[in-house]
Amino acid sequence: MKFAQRLNPLRKNVFAEMDSAKARAKTAGKEIIDLSLGSSDLPASDHVLEAIQTSLFDPSTHGYALFHSTRAFREAVASWYENKYGLALDPESEVLPLIGCQEGTAHLPLALLDPGDIGLLQDPSYPSHSGGIYLAGGEIYWLPTLAENNFLPVLSDIPPQIREQAKMMVLSYPHNPTTGLAPLSFFEQAVQFCKENAIALVHDFPYGDMVFSESPRAPSILEADRDKEISIEFFTFSKSYNMGGFRVAFAVGNPDLILALRQVKSVIDFNQYQGILNGAIAALQGPQESIQKTVDTFEHRRNVFVNALNRIGWNVPTPAATMYIWAKLPEQWQSNSMDFCTQLVESTGVALAPGSGFGKSGEGYVRMALVRDAEKLEEAAEKIDQFIHHK
Ligand SMILES: Cc1ncc(COP(=O)(O)O)c(C=O)c1O
Repeated sequence: MKFAQRLNPLRKNVFAEMDSAKARAKTAGKEIIDLSLGSSDLPASDHVLEAIQTSLFDPSTHGYALFHSTRAFREAVASWYENKYGLALDPESEVLPLIGCQEGTAHLPLALLDPGDIGLLQDPSYPSHSGGIYLAGGEIYWLPTLAENNFLPVLSDIPPQIREQAKMMVLSYPHNPTTGLAPLSFFEQAVQFCKENAIALVHDFPYGDMVFSESPRAPSILEADRDKEISIEFFTFSKSYNMGGFRVAFAVGNPDLILALRQVKSVIDFNQYQGILNGAIAALQGPQESIQKTVDTFEHRRNVFVNALNRIGWNVPTPAATMYIWAKLPEQWQSNSMDFCTQLVESTGVALAPGSGFGKSGEGYVRMALVRDAEKLEEAAEKIDQFIHHK
């Protein structure tokens, strides 16, 4: 059988390779401590589950959720944004329900790029950003996002010819995988750059709430583009509300971008199940203390794991945000994060994400997700010590 060429860039996937390595380790009898995925081990709140449970037995939720029936969700999102960021959104034209940020960010390039058009992406970045551009037949111009620049791309380095051909730029802060934070002043610079060059500015914002106590809150991109001239922002319930498996998120921002994404999605899906949208509404409108509890849990785990890694002689930076540690590998592994991760999991059961899976600039790093309790993280550090120093 012959497959489309657009599939080729998607065929090599380091996370699929890690999956096989984990499976081999499990078959060999290893207990897996899986820190390779940003999938929270914390539960969704009871009031969210109750709203979903009630919906399950209400037959009016069982049909397709067409756009008119998502109105309550879109209104809840608009009020939540207004309360949180002081930004007014029109629920009709400036909010769109999604089946995850992954789905939304991967579908958007179909609305923006003709074959050969350029999308500007951070390197390293979340894989759905590049995957969506490849599926749309677009080209990627990578923006190095490096420690020496506080994990912010240098926009003035983008050549004039690239600025002309680019149709979209994707930013994401707090940043996965580097854990970098962007100040509002950087977003203002990015908005200015995109306006000058007629580029759509896409902000993937899953970790908006996941900022630790010593750091300032993370701004929304719309605070830098209050008139919503060129920006669209994606927020998910996966992180703040521990609802990753429920697959619910939304996009907000420029009405033309929202409409274009809606048009793409209209031939692909009929929105999330209404019962889950009702759970998401309960999350937005209910008590918000659970968010702080989640952030505090990750902050505690961060402190424990950073200390434990330092103790074994691996000096990793203390992340200011997200649910990850982004660590430079010891010298002998600098050019092969994939080998490090597969050998580590096969010999100890500890699974980490190879930095190369997030782009060229991710090579030499690993990402560790803080998705196990403090005790397990201590155990993981001991196993990593055994692997690095006593192999
Ligand atoms: C930057 C980024 N975007 C999107 C996602 C996926 O979000 P969702 O669960 O809403 O698809 C993640 C999950 O880890 C992420 O880190």
